[in-house]
Amino acid sequence: MKFIFVSILVLFFSSQARAVSFVHGPRIASVFRDSVFMTAETDQNCLLEVIFGEQGGPMSETAFCSVSDTFHTAVLRNFGSSRNWRYSVRAYFASETIQTPVRTFRMPAAPGESFTFAVLGDAHCRAGSSGISTHFRSLIELICQYDPDFVLFLGDGIHGSYYPGEMRQQWDNFKEATDTITFNRPVFMVIGNHDANTYYQNFNGGDIFADEFEFPKNAPVPQFYEELVYHFEWGDACFYILDSDYYLTPEIIDIYQRNWLNQNLQSCPRRFKITAHHEHAWSYEGDLYGFLGEHPAERDAYWKVLRDNGVILDMAGHIHLYNRNFFGRTLPDTVMCVKQLISGGGGGSIVGGYGGDFYHFCLIEIGGNSLSVTAIDETGTVRDAFSLTAVEEKDDIEPDFSFPEVTYMQDGFGFRGGKSGELTLFDISGRILFEKKINPGVCEFFSPQCSGIFFASFDDGLYVNSIKLSFLR
Ligand SMILES: [Fe+2]
Repeated sequence: MKFIFVSILVLFFSSQARAVSFVHGPRIASVFRDSVFMTAETDQNCLLEVIFGEQGGPMSETAFCSVSDTFHTAVLRNFGSSRNWRYSVRAYFASETIQTPVRTFRMPAAPGESFTFAVLGDAHCRAGSSGISTHFRSLIELICQYDPDFVLFLGDGIHGSYYPGEMRQQWDNFKEATDTITFNRPVFMVIGNHDANTYYQNFNGGDIFADEFEFPKNAPVPQFYEELVYHFEWGDACFYILDSDYYLTPEIIDIYQRNWLNQNLQSCPRRFKITAHHEHAWSYEGDLYGFLGEHPAERDAYWKVLRDNGVILDMAGHIHLYNRNFFGRTLPDTVMCVKQLISGGGGGSIVGGYGGDFYHFCLIEIGGNSLSVTAIDETGTVRDAFSLTAVEEKDDIEPDFSFPEVTYMQDGFGFRGGKSGELTLFDISGRILFEKKINPGVCEFFSPQCSGIFFASFDDGLYVNSIKLSFLR
């Protein structure tokens, strides 16, 4: 009897004294030159305080969330010139206080400072205890070891659902898998078709996406795109996050986004301009997964904005593989000096048959005049690497996209260039028919075996231009 009485007392007091605990985070959500947004989720309504300071100094600055809630957003300000800071978060619940360990974060690299960031996409988290892909967990663990300044996630963090409640559980799993990485750095995210719920199409997943996270609020047409389209700067780069999967108009980067992008690219003061969205612009013939090429006029208008403004790299996920070569098959009938990188091997079932069929993330380093990409698989093995070089500032050098003069002859084409470069001729399926070094003033001749449509590409080392040719024998 005495035992039962004591047990009831213990149960009573333990239920009364239930301490608050963190469900997610604290997560470094967005980092700007003068402020840091931090989010945290707690299991009970409570107040939150962030204390922070430069590494090596006292944590004398504070940010306070004065509304009792379970989802907290703190805005940290008063940063000095140091890049390296540390913080701890306190949650106040009744007479209890809990405090996280002291952790660190970095402010954005200044222009001229090199930095790294990691890229991956398509984790496809589902609800429940087995809803997180083991491949996704392994990749996140690896990325932590490389300690990048930030992570760029290329969409489809979750698989989506007919039910908003289940979608929230999927985001819970995504956060569980990524909480540790966000203790120290932001994960900037792109919205994908599964996140937006264009797959199930019975409610707008974009509203839940914007509600679950805290991203920069500098979107065009905020009533459509707040926190789904945004931009930020880091080191020598401007980053533009776009929405290729707006709930009502998927597979398009529409004119509102293109105008916003065009304006912002023109005022970007940095050497590297980088865009990211979920659905890729170029694909293989007969793509079954959907991509921006479903609406070619809109896709070409988007690509023209990138080309006209000197974007060096356009990143996407959506197809669950790694690719950096337009799949090597289709040759767009446009200038193609913008590199497309697809990194969609973050956890969802891998797509086979086109190369690059391995789980991976990409580590990207920007320093000096160079942007280097390394594709690393889930075992830590480097599977590919390449570098891009920034062209000189627009003001310093006028872009020269001139193509060699083409003469149509009875038996074929003549090409006479005003500058040296590499000329490549393709047939309509992308097969290379002819490769020739062009020297200024010297005519090179090519005779097709039959009539047809051909594509010619001219690369002078700085700019690549391509044209369409037709030939009738
Ligand atoms: Fe997708």
